[in-house]
Amino acid sequence: MLSRTSHSFIDFKAVSCEKINKLFSVAEQISSNNLPSLNFSRFNNTGKTGALLFFEASTRTRMSFETAVARLGIYPLRLDGSSGSSLEKGETLEDTVLNVAAMNPSFLVIRSGDSLNLHELSKKVSMPILNAGWGKVGHPTQALLDAYTIRKNLGTCEGQRLLIVGDVRHSRVAFSHFELAEKLGYEIALCGPPEFLPKNYSGKIFKSIREGLGWATVAMALRVQLERHSVKHSLSEYREQFGLTKDNLSELSSKALIMHPGPINQGTELDSDVLLDSRCKVLDQVSNGVLIRQALIYCVLEGEL
Ligand code: CP
Repeated sequence: MLSRTSHSFIDFKAVSCEKINKLFSVAEQISSNNLPSLNFSRFNNTGKTGALLFFEASTRTRMSFETAVARLGIYPLRLDGSSGSSLEKGETLEDTVLNVAAMNPSFLVIRSGDSLNLHELSKKVSMPILNAGWGKVGHPTQALLDAYTIRKNLGTCEGQRLLIVGDVRHSRVAFSHFELAEKLGYEIALCGPPEFLPKNYSGKIFKSIREGLGWATVAMALRVQLERHSVKHSLSEYREQFGLTKDNLSELSSKALIMHPGPINQGTELDSDVLLDSRCKVLDQVSNGVLIRQALIYCVLEGEL
C-alpha cells in the first residue's frame, strides 16, 4: 500500500538528485528499447487505471501522459475541462478530484489553476498526485523533459547556462526550472521586459537579448501568457526587443540549444524560421516528454520516486 503523500510528484523539494538521475536512466532505457531490467509488462491486464484530470487546456502534456499510460498498459480515465462533467452543474474542482479518487485509480495526473492546492489535496487522497501544470506554481514534468533534452544533446546539465526569455513572472515552467537547476547544477539568467520578470529577483538578468544569447548554452523562450495579464502588452514591441530571430541568434553559439515549452506564438516569442534552425529542439522536447512521463509513472508505481 502506498503511503498517503510520499509518492506524489508536485514539486522538486522532496526529490533527490539521485532520484532524478534514476528517472533519466529509466527514460533512456525506454528510448533505446533496452527494457529487460524494467518489467513494464507487469502492468498489462491488471485492471490498473490512471486518472488524467485536465481542468485547464493542454495539448502536449495531456497527450504525452495519455501516450505514456497507453504504453504502460494502464487504462486512462480522462476528464478534459468542464464540458460533459458535473463541473457544469456546479460541482467543485476538489469534489471532482475526491470523487475520481474514490474510484481508486493508481494515480491522479492533475492540471489546474491556482485555485486548487495540490499539496492539500495529496493529504486527502490515497494515491500519488502527479503535477501536470499547476497555476503559476510549477510544471515539474516540463522542467524534467527540458533537462533531459539538454542532457541528451549537451551531455550534462551541470554547468550549462540557461537563458529564460520572456514572461517569467507568469511561468510555472520557469519556477520549476529554478528548483531543478539547484538540484542539477545549471545556471539560470533571465531576459525580458521588467514587468514580465519576477518581482525582487536577485539572480542574473540581461537587459539585452543579444548579450544574453552570447552568454547562454541554452536559450529558452517562454510563451507570452496574455490570458494571465491584467495590462495587455504590444506583441510587436515584444518581438522587436525580445523575440528570437535569425538575426539575433547569430550571437548564440553553434553548439547551443534553442528551446520553447510550447505552445508557441510564432512571430512573437520566436520567428517561424527559427524552428528550422538545427539548434532548435522544440519537437525533441515533445518526444522526450513522453519518455519522461512514462518513466515518471513507472518510478512512482514502483515506489522509486
Ligand atoms: N508545455 C505545455 O505544458 O504544453 P501544453 O499546455 O500543451 O500541455
